[in-house]
Amino acid sequence: MAFWKRRGQAGTLDRGRLPRHVAIIMDGNGRWAKGRGLPRTAGHAAGAETFRTIATHCKHLGIPYLTVYAFSTENWKRPKEEVSAIMGLLEKYLLEAAEKMAKDKIRLRFFGDLTPLSRELRLLCDETERISRSYESEIQVNICLNYGGRDEILRAARACARDCMDGNLDPDNFTEKDLARHLYSKDIPDPDLVIRPSGEVRISNFLLWQSAYAEYYFTQVLWPDFTPGELDRILGIYQRRQRRFGGV
Ligand code: IPE
Ligand code: IPE
Ligand code: MG
Repeated sequence: MAFWKRRGQAGTLDRGRLPRHVAIIMDGNGRWAKGRGLPRTAGHAAGAETFRTIATHCKHLGIPYLTVYAFSTENWKRPKEEVSAIMGLLEKYLLEAAEKMAKDKIRLRFFGDLTPLSRELRLLCDETERISRSYESEIQVNICLNYGGRDEILRAARACARDCMDGNLDPDNFTEKDLARHLYSKDIPDPDLVIRPSGEVRISNFLLWQSAYAEYYFTQVLWPDFTPGELDRILGIYQRRQRRFGGV
């Protein structure tokens, strides 16, 4: 028993059948804080720590792509103070990441429209991407920031329209591939597994195009309480599912 415990669930996973791409909606920070009588921002700070732990765990497992939902195009509706606290945490996180990345060798990318962010945050995002691009890392972590699935598809549609106007694309015959070339995810595989903690059973505008054939898993655990053990448990469930992609 003690031996099994020490090995954890990861020991029972089939390393050859791990998802290539895991995507997570990091939800439940506010309720986690509320449950402890803390301000919602304390939940976001705890959630940022969980992100670091889970990204490192994915790297150790050998999962090559992790995409996390950090801030949606709809999250601007929140009180100003909460939005600026989240942006402040992101800034703090990225400043630390610049130091730690060299050690962790985690390649970071950002998916979303960064233009409405502060100049400082935008520069930090650019700098983080630039520095980590050179890492021959086994993992790429995509942080969705001011990201919306519909917004992403709309932008890709506009880009295709421009290509058609320029005579580089045939409006009657362009393909899924032509459109996907303009998505933030253009050079990575679609997610195999999408996880949503916090008990909500909805997709909230996350990776709408890319998740067409993803496996979904919804867990009650709030994001700040999410552990590597919980991820291993979900990966075990994923490995027992049969994916058919419309076939038999
Ligand atoms: C997710 O946690 C973080 C963001 C959306 C930025 P929430 O802040 O949505 O937490 P709950 O859902 O209110 O508990
Ligand atoms: C989705 O969570 C966005 C992120 C986790 C960044 P929300 O908390 O914003 O989603 P809803 O409002 O419950 O659908
Ligand atoms: Mg939420």
